Amino acid sequence: MKESLADSMALMEALIEYRQKPISNDLQQIRHKYSMLHLDVLTLLYYFASTSAGNILEIGPYLGGSTISAALGMRGSSAHRRLISVEPGGSHRHHRIPSKDILRDLRKNLAKQRVAEMVTLIAGYSWEEKTMSEVRGQLELCSVGLFIIDADGEVKRELGNYRNLLLPGCNMVVDDYVSLKSGGKDLTTRPQIDELVASGELQALGVYGWGTWIGRWWGSANATT
Ligand SMILES: C[S@@+](CC[C@H](N)C(=O)[O-])C[C@H]1O[C@@H](n2cnc3c(N)ncnc32)[C@H](O)[C@@H]1O
Repeated sequence: MKESLADSMALMEALIEYRQKPISNDLQQIRHKYSMLHLDVLTLLYYFASTSAGNILEIGPYLGGSTISAALGMRGSSAHRRLISVEPGGSHRHHRIPSKDILRDLRKNLAKQRVAEMVTLIAGYSWEEKTMSEVRGQLELCSVGLFIIDADGEVKRELGNYRNLLLPGCNMVVDDYVSLKSGGKDLTTRPQIDELVASGELQALGVYGWGTWIGRWWGSANATT
């Protein structure tokens, strides 16, 4: 518990440091054009991608704000790393950043921000057999150091399907832990995360932005149930 508190403080300090860096202005633009997430969350995605080891797996990029932030963070690292992002596509009437064709707009945005060649986009739902086998074909076991989940609120299902790809201590960014709207995805996300934290599978580091949970995955061997 003491260790968790020190880790949470270190993360807050990192966020403050990164808010002062020039990248913060770029991330602000990216947020404005392509993301539903808070600037602090994009900043932490950039921070994790630039400081953690291993590959990145993302479920639910929408127009790519989170993906681009992570790709920019990964760009400076010398090791060959992969960023795999899973999105089924379709359309969405968002009040600020709507899309009639999510996959088309996502590809266009990744290209415009010059990160398209760093991202492997897998079209499909994360729970489909075809998608899971494509993801597993791209990533080695125990190789993911950052797992981003911003899809339909089913965090336990995503961990169940992809946990064998994660490194112990894998950083996790999961949106919709808190929601201001009633009947939102937090109704599934929050109890599922709380259960995984209580069992020791997840370590909580804090809640940022408008309700995005940040923490680490330590493996089901750690879980008490
Ligand atoms: C809230 S948006 C993501 C916002 C994005 N991360 C950002 O930075 O703005 C959720 C996205 O998840 C996608 N999605 C929903 N269920 C999914 C699933 N099971 N697998 C993959 N993507 C999913 C939706 O199509 C949508 O594009």
